Amino acid sequence: MPGTALVGIQWGDEGKGKVTDLLAEHTDMVVRYQGGNNAGHTIVVNGDKYALHLVPTGVLYAHCTPVIGPGVVVDPSVLIDEVESLEGRGVDTSKLVLSGNAHLIMPYHLELDRVQERRLGRNNLGTTKKGIGPAYADKASRIGLRVEDLLDRKIFSEKLRVAIKEKNLLLTRVYGRLPVDAASIEQEYFAYGEKLAPYIGDAVGMVQRALDQGRSVLFEGAQATMLDLDHGTYPFVTSSNPVAGGACAGAGVGPGDISRVIGISKAYCTRVGSGPFPSEADPADSEELVEAGAEYGTTTGRKRRCGWFDAVAARYAARLNTLTEVVVTKLDVLSRFESLKVCIAYEYEGDRFDRFPPNQTIFNRARPVYEELPGWTQEISHARKLDDLPKEARSYLETIEELMTTPVSWASVGPGRDEVVRISEGD
Ligand code: IMP
Repeated sequence: MPGTALVGIQWGDEGKGKVTDLLAEHTDMVVRYQGGNNAGHTIVVNGDKYALHLVPTGVLYAHCTPVIGPGVVVDPSVLIDEVESLEGRGVDTSKLVLSGNAHLIMPYHLELDRVQERRLGRNNLGTTKKGIGPAYADKASRIGLRVEDLLDRKIFSEKLRVAIKEKNLLLTRVYGRLPVDAASIEQEYFAYGEKLAPYIGDAVGMVQRALDQGRSVLFEGAQATMLDLDHGTYPFVTSSNPVAGGACAGAGVGPGDISRVIGISKAYCTRVGSGPFPSEADPADSEELVEAGAEYGTTTGRKRRCGWFDAVAARYAARLNTLTEVVVTKLDVLSRFESLKVCIAYEYEGDRFDRFPPNQTIFNRARPVYEELPGWTQEISHARKLDDLPKEARSYLETIEELMTTPVSWASVGPGRDEVVRISEGD
């Protein structure tokens, strides 16, 4: 049975965790295919709240095998902390499989992420400072260390010494920082290796076998389409490919292995970090959305920038990911506005763009063209089917469907597991 990919279609934080939770019952394996602990999934299972950064959400379900694929970058200390904290709360992590081919985030990656951001000054990217970009850069430069290297101390030390030579020049001569010490990194990472050894395995082989045996596999994207390294709002992006196509390379499967692609979108739009955001709301509406939607980052605690639903970006994401359906989250947060704006096009120097602009200069300066829709103020958290929603909310969802030419399968109306309106489920 082909797999399902779950991707964010905006700038992240769309509520992918809740959707994974809704799908979990019918899922045998959950695979992370990119990113690292820059992500944060908040999931409430049986009333218990979990904030996961690296371990796939599948770990919370006894019948699921959680897999960290080769496309992920792994900070071993974070992974160990997360595993230990889960175990401490009675969650069995023994089924977790960590790909040996995944790259390691090293102490100098964290340091470089910090100093590079500082050096960019007001042009900084607003990264999560978790070392993600520098780790992927080393992977591409072929001087990265991989999880499998933790199991071979000789190789680890050789690779580390090659990498560190250049890093220390950078840290000391370019950034005026202290050099890092190979011996203390070895000591630290060898200890991590001992703890992680039981989890390291043939992740790709396991995913492929699961698909071949007809088991249901969910490819869980982190971050989102507009933060994609190739297709997002470069350079204000993350350093991996969250798009559905990224699941193939990052997990080791082919395009034919994925038949269902679920796009997750908030009913409005948020963004953390720097970068253009054409449908960003004025401060009063933004503040209202921040408070009503508790829009603070799971990983960094930063306040998110809030805005209106951007149909141009959503259409772009629908095509990039060949979405088969959309799940709209946090519809209840909009239950306070007399009227709602939807960005249906951009305008730049007198030209109108119904499609996503071909270059970032245009996107950076694009002005939103809004359509105003009637809002609603009544509480909708009790709604479970379309007819339970006020007609304005139904028409809002229909407008999203039309603008994206993609069916809306679910709309979430509250944080709880059952607070969801089921419209046209694909499963
Ligand atoms: P990095 O991934 O830490 O390098 O950060 C690059 C950009 O991606 C920054 O704008 C971050 O705020 C953003 N970003 C990274 N991970 C997430 C996420 O999980 N949710 C939302 N934004 C993210």
